[in-house]
Amino acid sequence: MNSLIYGRPPAVFDPPMSAQQTSPLIPGSMALEDVAPASVDEITLYAPPGAIERRYALALALRALKVGGKLDVMAPKDKGGSRLAKELKGFGVTFAEEAKAHHRRAILTRPETVEGLDEAIAAGAPRVVAGLDAWSQPGVFAWDRIDNGTALLADALPALKGNGIDLGCGYGALATVVLRSAAVKSLKLVDLDRRAVDAAKKNVTDERVSFDWADVRLLEGEGTLDFVVSNPPFHDGGIEDKRLGQKFIRKSAELLKKGGVAWIVANRHLPYENDLNEVFKRVNMVADQNGFKIFEAVK
Ligand SMILES: C[S@@+](CC[C@H](N)C(=O)[O-])C[C@H]1O[C@@H](n2cnc3c(N)ncnc32)[C@H](O)[C@@H]1O
Repeated sequence: MNSLIYGRPPAVFDPPMSAQQTSPLIPGSMALEDVAPASVDEITLYAPPGAIERRYALALALRALKVGGKLDVMAPKDKGGSRLAKELKGFGVTFAEEAKAHHRRAILTRPETVEGLDEAIAAGAPRVVAGLDAWSQPGVFAWDRIDNGTALLADALPALKGNGIDLGCGYGALATVVLRSAAVKSLKLVDLDRRAVDAAKKNVTDERVSFDWADVRLLEGEGTLDFVVSNPPFHDGGIEDKRLGQKFIRKSAELLKKGGVAWIVANRHLPYENDLNEVFKRVNMVADQNGFKIFEAVK
């Protein structure tokens, strides 16, 4: 029996240990998009929080399942779980539903006919976003706009030079600005979200760039770079986690050579100052505006 899983459901749902991972947020996973239709016996889906990306993942899972295959789907009640039943009914499937550990769960057998798959897949697919003029996809951070923090950092950035990295690059908004400087020799774009990296690859076609679908926390800190730019994440699995941004700051310092500079934007309420002051020689807050702080930190 072949079995796939999407995301990391809590242990209380007894997720199958041997299932192959398909989440775009787990580097190295296979893509559900690439699974042949009607080829899979069983899928466990920890449904993502965004409505469009959730319907997209449900539709991809239903497309991948054999007729008679099993879908076990769950989501936290307040992050899409309470809408699961309605969404599944929209696909014309019948299912058993239960409430468990602040989640809603539905289990169903893939019927012969399912409605609305193509429409849900088209709605969640990568596309050029009108007005943004960039490739993006529902589920990617600020997928159809320029984040206010990113815009502020882009305005504050001087012309950078040498070799650098964009930690948590998203679909590439910041990288595009960095590359306007002819003195930039190379720029690596790193993100945990495969969809973001795929979009960035289409948006940032400059010869100086490379891409890495990876967890920034696990990068080797080689101490060789001239600059870091980052709008660090502060949510993990939809829950605010300021330690994530703090780890990005510490990793920035590890990656930089002595005298290298990190340009970082943060929401005003995030406590990054202690970490910055501990790992950098000089920290300058260059802007404090519209709810965001911008730091220039020199190693
Ligand atoms: C605040 S967003 C900034 C995105 C982009 N730079 C922009 O300005 O639009 C943070 C990004 O970090 C990514 N991310 C979250 N956790 C990560 C991790 N552990 N390693 C790498 N990237 C991560 C998210 O997918 C998201 O794209």
